[in-house]
Amino acid sequence: MTDATSHAAARSAALSAVVSGAPSARVRLDRLWQRGRDFLGTPTAVMGGAMSWVSERHLVSAISNAGGFGVLACGSMGPDQLAAEIAGTRALTARPFGVNLINMHPALDQLIDVCREQAVGHVVIAGGLPSGATLRRIKDGGAKAMGFAPTLGAGRRMVKQGADALVIEGTEAGGHIGPVSTTVLAQEILPDLREVPVFVAGGIGRGEAILSYLELGAAGVQIGTRFVCATESIAHPNFKQAFMRASARDAQTSVQIDPRFPVIPVRALANEGSKRFMAFQRDIIAKVDAGVMSRDEGNLEIEHFWSGALRRAVVEGDVETGSLMAGQSVGMVTREQPVADILAELIAQAESALARRPSDEASLIPMAESPVGAL
Ligand SMILES: Cc1cc2nc3c(=O)[nH]c(=O)nc-3n(C[C@H](O)[C@H](O)[C@H](O)COP(=O)(O)O)c2cc1C
Repeated sequence: MTDATSHAAARSAALSAVVSGAPSARVRLDRLWQRGRDFLGTPTAVMGGAMSWVSERHLVSAISNAGGFGVLACGSMGPDQLAAEIAGTRALTARPFGVNLINMHPALDQLIDVCREQAVGHVVIAGGLPSGATLRRIKDGGAKAMGFAPTLGAGRRMVKQGADALVIEGTEAGGHIGPVSTTVLAQEILPDLREVPVFVAGGIGRGEAILSYLELGAAGVQIGTRFVCATESIAHPNFKQAFMRASARDAQTSVQIDPRFPVIPVRALANEGSKRFMAFQRDIIAKVDAGVMSRDEGNLEIEHFWSGALRRAVVEGDVETGSLMAGQSVGMVTREQPVADILAELIAQAESALARRPSDEASLIPMAESPVGAL
């Protein structure tokens, strides 16, 4: 079915639903992601996943203005830069947006304080499990605290320590990734972790996929790759071209060359930069082995490598030696589109899938809350 026909199908189903008195597909979708919408304060429970160098004021405000929830990527910014970026985003949108901070950032506490001073509503901690102290610092500042849960156990611990919501991100995603697929993580975590809203990320390219995770109990979703080629994204035209040309199989993971040195894998479009990372890794390991560098310093160096390589590709357009971080859904990125159109397309796909189903109220209950989910 083309997007035009799926739009038409959703519209006609909505019309017949009105005639029959059954709730329209949009009403049913809104009920399914109500928890996520309430948590984020947005019309749709679609988070724009923070992407270093890409998720700056323009893309973030565009996502929030279109009804999603934009998230600023702090990446390696210092406190002053972050303060300026938050203020710049606020100048472009009156809607809610969040800030993503990297757990291992040496100035993490000061960055949290900046979020507090700027009255940011939601802070997402990425790149490792946040400590209880970090979560408390965020919450004491009045913001909602979110973290990434790699397993059910880690998610439960984070909730006990005060996390207000979680993101689960599968290995299909772009950027730094875990080893488990989105579908498996979702099945392992969503039915059992109901205390806080959980947002699913990784490999989401169509609305039908959003719907399936909502039905499994997700409060909403987080999407990165699909937004890279948004018209409002400041990513270099070369970076966008590489995305539009690529297929799913081009988005490959970096290889860890020494089990004693647990480098977090990164998914990116394969290029000369991916090869250079191997040589860089060897160099760092040799330095750690020789006692010239500690493991922590080695990890930080590797983070700097990625941040620098991603900057070269996103900002300068060096798609040969820069890093083209991208998720497997990159094959579904075929053209530049305004954020509002991307969101409308995803919603129309979810609605049209709902409209094709019987409209009995039972189908509105997320699986985890239904008697079947409790078995
Ligand atoms: C270019 C790029 C940069 C990213 N940078 C970050 C980051 O700085 N912090 C973070 O938490 N996630 C980062 N991510 C992950 C996204 O926030 C999001 O969770 C992921 O893209 C979702 O999967 P998808 O790409 O399949 O939609 C990045 C992803 C991409 C593609």
